Amino acid sequence: MAKSRTSYVCSECGAGSTKWQGQCAECGAWNTLVEFVVESVANGGGPARRGGWAGKVDPPRVTALKDVQHSEDARVSTGIGEFDRVLGGGLVEGAVVLVGGDPGIGKSTLLLQALAQMSSASSGPALSSLYVTGEESLAQVAGRAARLGLPLDGLNALAETGVERILEQAVALRPRLIVADSVQTLWTDQLTAAPGSVSQVRESAARLVRYAKETGAAVFLVGHVTKEGGIAGPRVLEHMVDAVLYFEGDSGSRFRVLRAFKNRFGAVNELGVFAMGDKGLKEVPNPSAIFLSGGSIQQPGSCVMVTREGTRPLLVEVQALVDASPLSNPRRVAVGLEGNRMAMLLAVLHRHGGVGVGDQDVFVNVVGGIRVQETAADLPVLLAVLSSLRDRPLADKTIAFGEVGLSGEIRPVPNGEERLKEAATHGFKRAIVAKANAPKAGSYKGMQVVPVERLGDALEAAG
Ligand code: TYD
Ligand code: MG
Repeated sequence: MAKSRTSYVCSECGAGSTKWQGQCAECGAWNTLVEFVVESVANGGGPARRGGWAGKVDPPRVTALKDVQHSEDARVSTGIGEFDRVLGGGLVEGAVVLVGGDPGIGKSTLLLQALAQMSSASSGPALSSLYVTGEESLAQVAGRAARLGLPLDGLNALAETGVERILEQAVALRPRLIVADSVQTLWTDQLTAAPGSVSQVRESAARLVRYAKETGAAVFLVGHVTKEGGIAGPRVLEHMVDAVLYFEGDSGSRFRVLRAFKNRFGAVNELGVFAMGDKGLKEVPNPSAIFLSGGSIQQPGSCVMVTREGTRPLLVEVQALVDASPLSNPRRVAVGLEGNRMAMLLAVLHRHGGVGVGDQDVFVNVVGGIRVQETAADLPVLLAVLSSLRDRPLADKTIAFGEVGLSGEIRPVPNGEERLKEAATHGFKRAIVAKANAPKAGSYKGMQVVPVERLGDALEAAG
């Protein structure tokens, strides 16, 4: 018979004890010892005996992870370098990728270009592919492809929205690549809900995901994001797919940014930059300078920062406009940044920098329609706000990056040296950064680096 005895363990630190105590002898926490029963395994008792007297034990269904067969992700190039970068270095076999974005931003164009490249032999092995269009006619797709001058050898198209018929064709054709444009038009016989409803979109997408996993074909799903947050928007699909890529960018600008929001095969927040022209989307392999406003004279209210989205540093300009407000509740508008973060930074500026903007409207904008999500933008935002408020430009060719804490400290951000290098490469002469991000020498490749520890130091450095 298995003997059991009682033991005690601290729920704070996990330290064991043979008797109950009011205070844990290990971590000093009070009233944290909880009782549990330890079964002795003497006499061959315990789990191994569960098979009974016959000694018959079910074979374990658990596998040591090291014994599981797997291969390195086989990747193919899409023929578009920036697209490959966002995918994490090319398209993985059997991957399901959701490409979302506003209508007219270039989803169909990008996928048609990529599919045409991959199905011709121009970038590696020619893969058979199927472009399923539910929004445009075959003639429209063919017309666009011809206008873009794409190689069309291995590219098949199908105008169909019923997912059962699409899969029938896929089973017959066995394509290695499928594009479904768009997922909102798909529907399945199995449900009575209207096409475009959340249940139809989700179920149809689920069928395609299952097909991809069974056959190893890669599937791109195109999804529109509706302005209202989208009842049938692609958000419901995010957890079903391997990668979610969203287009960002000003509708007025010709630049388009594709961002990886989720990627099981690569870095999230990786950016690909494209320019829309009369020959479709062209990649912009060195995009640093396009997010600067381009004026040659430093203006008040502007600060250039080095952000690091994904695995690449980017120079991005932050602009602020601070103006006396006619309203009792002054406006706070952040475009390309998070609004709550800006409100917090303005509070820190008041409390620890002694600069109040309580009676001012504050507008902050990131140039180029790109969204900056990292805290390295804190310091540049405050410097731009201060510069606009004082109507004094920062010194020429200055960059800044750093996180601002609630007690007014300036904290370092990851990859400081890489960011400084990018700025120096583009001819910047002065950098205002957290002390821990600054090299000891006080300069980096000919660029003066001003280390700051507190918000007050930063405001002083800004002049
Ligand atoms: P499209 O790929 O159809 O957008 P989506 O599928 O995301 O709705 O892109 C349409 C827009 O792109 C349209 O406004 C026209 C523009 N465009 C160009 O400027 N040049 C081109 O070569 C192409 C094909 C489209
Ligand atoms: Mg489209």
